[in-house]
Amino acid sequence: MISSLIYLLSAFLIVISIDCMSSPYRAVRGYYISAVAMGLALITCIATNINYNAHLITAALLAGGGIGIWFALRVELSALPQMVALLNGIGGLSSSLLMWCVATHSHINFIIVLCFVIGLITFSGSMVAFAKLHGWMHRNLSWTKWLSLILFVLLCFVTWFYIENDGAGFHALVTIVLLLGICLTMPIGGADMPVVISLLNSFSGWAVVLVGLLSGDLLLIITGTLVGTSGTILSYIMSKAMNRPLLKIIWPKKIQKKQEDNTDGIAKKGSPEEAAFIMSNARKIIIVPGFGMAAAHAQQALKSMTDILSKKYGVDVKYAIHPVAGRMPGHMNVLLAEAQVPYENVYSMADINSEFASADVAYVIGANDVTNPVAKTEVNSPLYGMPILDVEKAKTIFFVKRSLGTGYSGVDNPLFYAPNTIMLLGDAKTITEEIVKDME
Ligand code: TAP
Repeated sequence: MISSLIYLLSAFLIVISIDCMSSPYRAVRGYYISAVAMGLALITCIATNINYNAHLITAALLAGGGIGIWFALRVELSALPQMVALLNGIGGLSSSLLMWCVATHSHINFIIVLCFVIGLITFSGSMVAFAKLHGWMHRNLSWTKWLSLILFVLLCFVTWFYIENDGAGFHALVTIVLLLGICLTMPIGGADMPVVISLLNSFSGWAVVLVGLLSGDLLLIITGTLVGTSGTILSYIMSKAMNRPLLKIIWPKKIQKKQEDNTDGIAKKGSPEEAAFIMSNARKIIIVPGFGMAAAHAQQALKSMTDILSKKYGVDVKYAIHPVAGRMPGHMNVLLAEAQVPYENVYSMADINSEFASADVAYVIGANDVTNPVAKTEVNSPLYGMPILDVEKAKTIFFVKRSLGTGYSGVDNPLFYAPNTIMLLGDAKTITEEIVKDME
């Protein structure tokens, strides 16, 4: 009874902590609240179960905790998406292992197998997501989605056989499920991985709910529901912000080759010195960071540039964040916070879009799709309908990137050829550092 009350209290605290995460000012407090909630739940769980096998539980806690701390201290912020993929996969694997234990000790039924299957698909799918995000796997094999249909039919048959024969065909079941997770994730492009990870995350949550229902464990039901619902909502929010239906993400068409250059005009190339001169004489600058800033680790150099602009030259500098800039929700916010950019200078797209018209400079650093105006006009473009940052309304636009190439969507950006655009071609960090040197 007392343990159930403590579990409820922990769940309540976790809900409060999630609410805190919605504001950068309260996020750290939310983090502490969730740590206390997890600690409470964990201690209660250990205290009520320690008599099963104290040594094994202690050893598992020490090993798991040690590995977790080791990873958390080493991981770079830019590698967080793949870290999340790895953790998701391990979550799925644990619910599968739990179900396997249940299956070996009781009569096998459909719910047990369902939970086992969801957990294992989450595991193998997340491993592919990890490999893609970490750059270990580059190819998106579109044909595997058809193989996954065949595997699904096979899975239905093997599941039936497994339940009917009380555990026979276990190895076939495991092999098919692992392959299914791999084949479902293989066709999906690296940049869609955040949506996939959040979807897999929600799967692992629902798997935990099933485990909780079967074992009558309140804590598992609560945590599973929180993970399941938040993962589902996040997947929906991301796919909506990208204007790509979820179905198109998980069942993608064959990846098209990059489009031919269909833009008119010649791109004007500029130098860091020119940029430094124009920006130090500006009154208002809006910085638009994108995936390339993360790839180049340019956030610290950007912060130095902003400091000089505002302190030495009195320029009003703001940051504009598109909801899907980068490769995961809040990607840019996390990196800017790491570089200690004040929160009050960071604006969401909805809050800042009207200000581009009064800006002297839009400094677009490693962003591309989130500024592409074809999203407003080209009905056949994959970007069509995605809200974009109106950088073209600024007097001068600087694009800092290495080439005139496309971004994640593979769509050319006609803004590179606009009369008020100056391309600063090169690595985002190097170019920004050179601008800083010129302004010092
Ligand atoms: P992108 O459109 O992908 O453009 C990033 C640009 O960064 C590229 O054009 C690349 O150009 C440049 N770049 C890469 N490395 C660089 C470096 N070291 N230095 C300078 N530039 C570099 O990024 P975005 O504007 O942030 O848009 C995000 C895209 O990802 C959207 O299409 C969005 O739908 C998609 N997406 C986002 C999310 C979330 S939740 N954020 C999830 C899934 C998909 P060069 O190669 O020429 O340098």
